[in-house]
Amino acid sequence: HDFFAQKQKLKGKKAIVTAGPTYEAIDPVRFIGNHSTGKMGYAIAEALAQYGAEVVLVSGPTALMPPKHPNIELFKVTSAREMLEVCMDAFHEADIAVLAAAVADYRPKEVAVQKIKKQSDSMQIELVKNPDIAATLGQHKKPYQFMVGFALETENEKANALQKLKKKNFDFIVLNSLNDEGAGFGHDTNSITILTAEGESYQSGLKSKKEIAYDIVEHICRQMQKQAL
Ligand code: CTP
Ligand code: CA
Repeated sequence: HDFFAQKQKLKGKKAIVTAGPTYEAIDPVRFIGNHSTGKMGYAIAEALAQYGAEVVLVSGPTALMPPKHPNIELFKVTSAREMLEVCMDAFHEADIAVLAAAVADYRPKEVAVQKIKKQSDSMQIELVKNPDIAATLGQHKKPYQFMVGFALETENEKANALQKLKKKNFDFIVLNSLNDEGAGFGHDTNSITILTAEGESYQSGLKSKKEIAYDIVEHICRQMQKQAL
């Protein structure tokens, strides 16, 4: 990758990357979350930085080491609403946004001030919809801005992913393959399909998340060049 990185194809560009899960508080000690490790998003932030971009990495709670590249500024957040706030602030200046976070779709309607006590044999927590960060940025997207989203589908994968691409105003969408052994949550490897609005597609095969990150960033460069961005 050094050869491409040396070219500094994205020098002068600013990028936002979201990564990791979000945690939605139930009470002071409990939350709703998911198994996202943040590895894919962090790897994309590193690859963008290697290509010369200035990167704002907006990360939910992860166990990962903060990236060391001087071009990366890390913002740690907890909830979807915090993630949205940081992203909206940074989006005005951004040329590229990559939405790799596994944002919780819902959060508890109310957060208990005290630790909830065990009582009856069953309990219910009412949930309300979280803001959609990708869709919100997509609504504010200017023609010179380039947006990449992710999708993980278990049925009608391509059709569902393309629907998301349109709905959220992405330039391309990265479809995570669940079928490939070794791909996805918790693994160091992944297998993806990139789908563009124009109907082009690219399949990575099973590779390390680092290599996939470079694939994705190469595609960003190629598409931006095509669109004269
Ligand atoms: N996304 C986001 N904010 C949310 C939900 C999703 O920014 N509140 C982004 C993800 O980071 C991803 C894309 O939107 O890039 C698609 O996420 P996904 O969970 O697959 O789609 P949803 O619109 O939430 O639809 P569903 O979970 O019902 O399939
Ligand atoms: Ca979702």
